[in-house]
Amino acid sequence: MDGQKSSLFTRRLDQPLPLAVEGDGVWITDESGKRYLDASGGAVVVNIGHGRKEIARAVGGQLERLYYAHPTMFTCLPAEELAQALAVHTPDDLNRFYFMTSGSEANETAIKMARQVHQSQGRHDKTVLISRWRSYHGLSLGALAAAGRPAFRMPYMAMLRDAVHIPPPYCLRCSYGLTHPSCQLRCALALDETIQNLGASVVSAFLLEPVSGATLAGYPPPEGYLALVREICDRHQVLLIFDEVMTGMGRTGAWFAGNRYGVTPDIMTLGKGITGGSLALSAAVVREELYQVLKDGLGGFSHGGTYSHHPVGCAAALAAVRILEGESLVERSAQMGPVLGGELKRALGDSPYVGDIRGVGLLWGVELVADRGTLTPFPRVDQVTERLWQHLFDNGIIVYKSVGLAGSDGDALVLAPPFIITEDQIGQAAAAVKEALVGVLS
Ligand SMILES: Cc1ncc(COP(=O)(O)O)c(C=O)c1O
Repeated sequence: MDGQKSSLFTRRLDQPLPLAVEGDGVWITDESGKRYLDASGGAVVVNIGHGRKEIARAVGGQLERLYYAHPTMFTCLPAEELAQALAVHTPDDLNRFYFMTSGSEANETAIKMARQVHQSQGRHDKTVLISRWRSYHGLSLGALAAAGRPAFRMPYMAMLRDAVHIPPPYCLRCSYGLTHPSCQLRCALALDETIQNLGASVVSAFLLEPVSGATLAGYPPPEGYLALVREICDRHQVLLIFDEVMTGMGRTGAWFAGNRYGVTPDIMTLGKGITGGSLALSAAVVREELYQVLKDGLGGFSHGGTYSHHPVGCAAALAAVRILEGESLVERSAQMGPVLGGELKRALGDSPYVGDIRGVGLLWGVELVADRGTLTPFPRVDQVTERLWQHLFDNGIIVYKSVGLAGSDGDALVLAPPFIITEDQIGQAAAAVKEALVGVLS
């Protein structure tokens, strides 16, 4: 910044950050003119590509027409139209949208919605949330309590009203030492056992990422897992919440992971790709039947948000949805997913430091190990992910970090590019990761 002293509290405290000045397609350019291939869409956000003029026009037009009308006083066209546009793609009757501004807030909203559905139906004791280890649901204290990422939780542990965590479906490092399918989905049965141990009368909801995103680097659910947890939740009158903040909006090659795996949750949360990264917007989406319960209930829905249902955020998201539809980008995510997975496997499959390459749609993870025979992780103090990430960034390739996959150790890189990425660019990213493994670890 021209040698001026910064007053900004930046997201990295250990080193200065380059100044980003422009985004176009899969590229970000910094003030020195250096270009970065954004192979993770930042934090798995940018699905339609950077610099979409359609979004700029939609946002500009909405700003000129109306940028604020308090959501308890007015509804607005962009929110109405966005809800309708999304409802075309959401599974079944998952079609009532409460718009917020971040994934964390969407999850807070979902947790509270579940609680209030039970209250409206006279099940006043149902307050306990069950979630999973090795998950991420957000930064606010409620969402952080649901998250199962120890390093993020640790500084605030004493302040959390904790959720009850069960093991994730992470077959590579199964918590029970079992193998799918002979395990008979022990990790899903743990939900049933936990509900019974706590007493179904106190359990409100089960919150999970249908595909484990940042914390398990794009790990898909084993066959049958989501259907079984759906069945267990139904049996105990526990609401099922899918956190699709990362997996929604086409990331898994379907509009939502619920569509992809044929399982409909009671509540779904969205964020990140909903505006393609252009503005802060998120949503908690609830099934029509449960919306009616809240509507008819005595207390309504006690919640809020000054910037909820925001006209400009919704206009940006509506433009992003129209781009996804008009350019068949969700279909493209499905088509390019195997290309990305194939390229990663071709480039990295033989590396002694790669323990697993997995993913769905355009959400892929490369798990790094010290010994691929035993899957022994690198000690976390070696900062393998961070060093690889920095090497790639310095060379103009952006990926996303994932750590703590194996107890307090474990390293992975996430690749989740905009859906418009070309095969050549995918090849470039995979080759760069290969070069980084050699350059940093050999
Ligand atoms: C699955 C998931 N849920 C929730 C969040 C929190 O979203 P936000 O950072 O927008 O609050 C994230 C962010 O990475 C996420 O990956």
